[in-house]
Amino acid sequence: MQSFPKDFIWGTATSSFQIEGASNEAGKGFSVWDAFTRIPGKVLNGDTGDVACDHYHRFEEDIRLMKQMGVKAYRFSISWPRILPTGTGAVNQAGIEFYSKLIDCLLANDIEPWVTLYHWDLPLALEFEKDGWLGENISDIFADYAAVCFAHFGDRVKNWITINESWVIAMLSYGQGIFPPGRVSNIEPYQVGHNLIKAHAKAVDLYRTKFQPSQKGRIGIANNCDWREPLTDSAADKAAAERAIEFFLGWFADPIYKGHYPASMVERLGDRLPTFTEEEVKMIKGSSDFFGLNHYTTMYAADSTGLDTKDSVFGNGGISEDQDVQLSVDPSWKMTTMNWSIVPWGFQKLLEWIDQRYDHPEIIVTENGCSFDHEVVGGQVNDQERIDFYKGYLAACQAAISNGANVKGYFAWSFMDNFEWAFGYSRRFGLTHINFETLERTPKASAKWFAEFIRNNKG
Ligand code: GAL
Repeated sequence: MQSFPKDFIWGTATSSFQIEGASNEAGKGFSVWDAFTRIPGKVLNGDTGDVACDHYHRFEEDIRLMKQMGVKAYRFSISWPRILPTGTGAVNQAGIEFYSKLIDCLLANDIEPWVTLYHWDLPLALEFEKDGWLGENISDIFADYAAVCFAHFGDRVKNWITINESWVIAMLSYGQGIFPPGRVSNIEPYQVGHNLIKAHAKAVDLYRTKFQPSQKGRIGIANNCDWREPLTDSAADKAAAERAIEFFLGWFADPIYKGHYPASMVERLGDRLPTFTEEEVKMIKGSSDFFGLNHYTTMYAADSTGLDTKDSVFGNGGISEDQDVQLSVDPSWKMTTMNWSIVPWGFQKLLEWIDQRYDHPEIIVTENGCSFDHEVVGGQVNDQERIDFYKGYLAACQAAISNGANVKGYFAWSFMDNFEWAFGYSRRFGLTHINFETLERTPKASAKWFAEFIRNNKG
């Protein structure tokens, strides 16, 4: 395989709620995930984020392991309620100090911090008092929080990501109700999506006007998307696959790159899809310095107009019926323990789709990875399947680059096993194994493989 571009950014990623623990310590407020994990039945095995990987206390050890892995960049997120315990108002100094130390330690180890401002741990007070992401002023409230982070960390942080996976927030939290606040609706996801886009754009606007001129960093958003391959060559299935990607990624990327929602959404959703004012369009269009992409899997898409797909195994479920798309997988595809098929060519196709649709943006793969179970045997974790996954997906990434896609960075999800949301600790995505009883860390074979891969691909 050809090597990656010389200045390619190699990193690993995590998020605050999934790894930090110390959920009720040093002035931190509760987040919606702290509350949700306490509702019986919401999270597998009743797992919580109270301790998680205890990264809050062990970050120095974690950074040492990252250094061994040879990564040059680390993507983590800031816990909003650790900085602003009730979401607005007084700053929790201990929270500022924690992230400050973390950032300093990364820089001292020659690892570039890539900081996500919001990876789903909304301050609980904002849910109670302001209706969370449905609230009228939430985008301003988010921008104010972002400004606190820029002011305290922007001297050292040069890469910002506003929001992680707006699609997940809208769909899983407000459409399917499986993430907090657990709401099920076919209207709210579009309102929430709208507010998320505005929140992102307002934070970016603030950064660009008040901070970027002196701090000279970059700011973008990380959206997630699977690939959707037409099930057959029929025009209807091809249109269905395109539509499925528009409802997934176009929903959030079109406003940012084109200034409006995809036509397929406008046509199908009617007045369930809110509209932006001209003023808002001006702020939103062009509001990302790079195209952050989280990618995990691929499915076939077929046109299902007129069919009832609500209860089918791979029906889109809930509001995805708006799309009239029936999803399926090829039974010969290997699956991870998330039941996500491993299809590297889907990754290549998605990268090339983004390259074309959005006019050759700089793409940073902000997450890609897989979950598999492995035991520690004699101090070693042999996770050959994970190595095979990365080999396949990195080859696909390289192929997309050879075909002209402007991919500039890649972050493996995840640096270590962690709290996998509704699955609790039962799904392992890490390059580093964690024993959740002793909290002992053991780099897996894939961590060593990744280190070697990075070394060989410095250009
Ligand atoms: C993403 C998410 C991560 C991680 C990953 C694996 O959607 O950003 O937090 O959980 O999926 O499921």
